[in-house]
Amino acid sequence: MEFQGRKNRRASAEEKAKELEVIKGLVCGKNVVITGGASGLGYSFVNHFLQHGAKRVAIIDVNASAGERAVKAVAKLYGEEKVIFIHADTSNYSQMLDTFTQLSTSMDSIDIVINNAGILDEKRWTKEVAVNIGGMVSVATLALRFMRKDQGGHGGVLVNVAQYFDFKFTAHLPIYTATKFAIIALSQSLGASYHADNTGVRVMALCPGLTETALTIDSPNKLLSRVMKVDFVKNLEQLSIQTPYIVAEGLMTILKCGESGSVWVVENGKTPFEIETPAYKSLKRQYKNNFIPSPMIHMMRGRPIRETYDDMRSGLTSCG
Ligand SMILES: NC(=O)c1ccc[n+]([C@@H]2O[C@H](COP(=O)([O-])OP(=O)(O)OC[C@H]3O[C@@H](n4cnc5c(N)ncnc54)[C@H](O)[C@@H]3O)[C@@H](O)[C@H]2O)c1
Repeated sequence: MEFQGRKNRRASAEEKAKELEVIKGLVCGKNVVITGGASGLGYSFVNHFLQHGAKRVAIIDVNASAGERAVKAVAKLYGEEKVIFIHADTSNYSQMLDTFTQLSTSMDSIDIVINNAGILDEKRWTKEVAVNIGGMVSVATLALRFMRKDQGGHGGVLVNVAQYFDFKFTAHLPIYTATKFAIIALSQSLGASYHADNTGVRVMALCPGLTETALTIDSPNKLLSRVMKVDFVKNLEQLSIQTPYIVAEGLMTILKCGESGSVWVVENGKTPFEIETPAYKSLKRQYKNNFIPSPMIHMMRGRPIRETYDDMRSGLTSCG
């Protein structure tokens, strides 16, 4: 028994070492751009890429003091030449364009982009939408423009940081949830073979579960209304929280095995798993008595009716 246990441990240690080798092969010598890399998840990504042999990492962050602190700490561990900090706001397109133009010369090529900068601030939702959708779209399109093979680039990888939610838990975060789902759709569309075959850029979405960062810690104070705070905190307490380190490890695995257009979740401190989006028609909910005239369909047997169908208009019937 003891012998068998030791053999299994050796086998899994060997597998881990092999995986590490493959990841190092993918990251070694590569130039990486990470938005929001000065703290939280982004900072953990910076350290993981350098640990795995990245040639250089560029941190783009709106927080100048955090950026400088991050660069100092990283330079101490890996060397000054390994890290660049650019103070810029992802939601400002012209700043992003300048940043990518500058990086494409100072880094000679951009190989991997981690589109991570995001905020949770339901009260300031115009800013939230501007950063979480506007900023992410700007960075994603610029990453493609500077990496795409069909326009002189070398190809590469783009990972957009989104979040996959159980709607049971997100009633308190309607706008943040909407922005994060938008990024899943963006990644699936840009990652489709229609784009990937021409650009040579693999696009994926990484959806971390609840992770211990400033964003999570401040979240109870960023809701649309204070009234929701108690319920929100109660919900948070039901979830298990993971460290940024685990998410960064998951990101490395995703880089190794994720196909373009794929969506990955890293939650509860476990290894990543892929989410498949079902064809929407397979999700169609069907009700009996679909012929009820439309002004009456809002209630049936005391229950609200949530969906209507084209079938109603076309006269086709569908019986659940
Ligand atoms: N923490 C979680 O539980 C969690 C879960 C899922 C997804 N996410 C997503 O992960 C990403 C990182 O979140 P985090 O938890 O590390 O947050 P964080 O607040 O700890 O760190 C975010 C970093 O991004 C920077 N930033 C914010 N807005 C920026 C902008 N406009 N331009 C440039 N930099 C900007 C901040 O200065 C900070 O350094 C976000 O997109 C977030 O939505 C977080």
